[in-house]
Amino acid sequence: MSHQMFRVVLAALAAGVVLGHGPALAADAAKGKAAFMKYGCWQCHGIEGQGSAITSAGKVLAPDPMPLETFVAFVRSTDRAMPPYSEKVLPNEDLADMHAYLSAIPKPKDYKSIPLLRQ
Ligand code: HEC
Repeated sequence: MSHQMFRVVLAALAAGVVLGHGPALAADAAKGKAAFMKYGCWQCHGIEGQGSAITSAGKVLAPDPMPLETFVAFVRSTDRAMPPYSEKVLPNEDLADMHAYLSAIPKPKDYKSIPLLRQ
C-alpha cells in the first residue's frame, strides 16, 4: 500500500469513528452533516462547527454544542449577525440531525495548545 493510499484509508477510518460515535446517533449525525452543508451553516461556522479563526463570521459550535433546545431556539430567533431560519425553510428534524452531527465531533487533544484557535 502506498503512503498516499494509507493516509486515505486512515482518514476514512477516522471519519467512521466520528460518525459511529454514540448510541443510535450514527445515521442522524451523517444526515446532520449533509444538512449542515446543504443549509450553508458551514460557510460561517466551518465544516466541523469549529468557527472561523480568521474572521468573527461564525461562532464555534462544536465540540460540545449547546443543548438541543437552546440550539433550535437560537437558530429560529436570532436576528443579529446570523440570519434566522424558520421551520418552513429548515425542519426541526434537520436541526436535530445537525445537533447530533455537532455532538459527535470529538474534542481534539491538542486544541487548546494552538493559540490561533483560542481567539
Ligand atoms: C451568514 C453567516 C452564518 C450562517 C450562514 C449561519 N450562522 Fe450561525 N452564527 C453566525 C454568527 C455571526 C453567530 C453569532 C451571532 C450572535 O451572537 O448573535 C452565529 C451563532 C450561531 C449559534 C449560537 C452559538 C453560540 O454559542 O451562541 C448557533 C447555534 C448557530 N449559529 C447555528 C447555525 C446553524 C445551525 C446554521 C445553519 C442552519 C447557521 N448557524 C448558519 C453566522 C452564521
